Amino acid sequence: MTSDNDRRRGLLARLRGRPVARSRGRRRLGAAVRLLAALMLAGGAYTVFAPGAQAQDNPPLSAAGNEGKALFDVSCVSCHGRNAQGVEGRGPSLIGVGAAAVEFQVSTGRMPMARQEAQAPRKPPQFTDEQVRQLAQYIQELGGGPQIPEGNLREGADLAAGGELFRINCSQCHAFGGGGGALSSGKYAPSLHPASDRQIYAAMLSGPQNMPVFGDNQLRPEQKADIIAYIQENLKQTQDQGGFNLGRYGPSTEGLAAFLIGIVALVFASLWIAGKS
Ligand code: HEC
Ligand code: HEC
Repeated sequence: MTSDNDRRRGLLARLRGRPVARSRGRRRLGAAVRLLAALMLAGGAYTVFAPGAQAQDNPPLSAAGNEGKALFDVSCVSCHGRNAQGVEGRGPSLIGVGAAAVEFQVSTGRMPMARQEAQAPRKPPQFTDEQVRQLAQYIQELGGGPQIPEGNLREGADLAAGGELFRINCSQCHAFGGGGGALSSGKYAPSLHPASDRQIYAAMLSGPQNMPVFGDNQLRPEQKADIIAYIQENLKQTQDQGGFNLGRYGPSTEGLAAFLIGIVALVFASLWIAGKS
């Protein structure tokens, strides 16, 4: 038996070009290394596959996260649940939606939602910028997710590239001029005119309602900067061509102003002509 085994091992060893007998110490060391590797693998696999380990045990929140939780518990909990896990028939889970989604929804006044409807409309926001950041921080700490980068979001942007990207990715819903348009079943793509840089970035990252998510694989951060610059510096400016910008109240104020100025000018002109004759 043993001699058989020895012979086989010798043969194998010769095939691999290794010395025949390994010392017992080295063999024991090898076993220990293998055991350690197996343990580490199992540990790693557990942390990767353990169900919702992040969401379950409550990690301590930062100061801002705590402030955010306090606001959340008053204004959002009725629809999104005690730990933002969602409430059947009232509001979806916010675990993993990220700070970007919260900042988008709350800073555009869409949330807190006033009543159940097909699509929460833009409203005057109910929270200050700081409170918005705190709510966003809380949801971020609960479940992670996409975040808006800090700093200038139009850094080194290329307007021409932005226009191209906008026409390919955005204009089918928001129209070439960014004015928005109707979608199916009572939903709509809103006008982009009220949106700030951060709101545009957040909309792309979070894909609210029927809007697709434009993650960093679909549109790199530089491309997002190009699009933001195009919307803010080109689309909104070209919309204003066509006369004085009277506080952007639209064509009716401009028409009224033109009418009044025209009438007054006509009156003076006719008085002048009458005085001459
Ligand atoms: C009256 C119920 C209601 C209240 C109150 C409410 N929500 Fe919502 N929320 C909804 C519903 C319904 C949706 C999904 C529909 C939609 O996206 O328009 C939603 C969607 C969201 C989303 C988007 C989730 C995603 O997948 O992108 C965020 C973020 C959010 N709410 C945050 C908040 C925060 C923060 C508050 C408190 C300041 C709040 N909501 C208050 C009902 C509510
Ligand atoms: C399939 C249609 C669709 C496409 C494509 C699309 N969007 Fe949207 N977008 C929407 C809808 C629908 C909403 C409204 C979401 C809501 O009200 O919750 C929206 C909302 C927005 C808003 C928020 C406007 C506000 O009220 O402040 C911005 C900004 C925006 N989109 C930018 C973009 C940009 C930039 C692109 C291209 C990269 C794009 N969208 C592509 C459908 C679309």
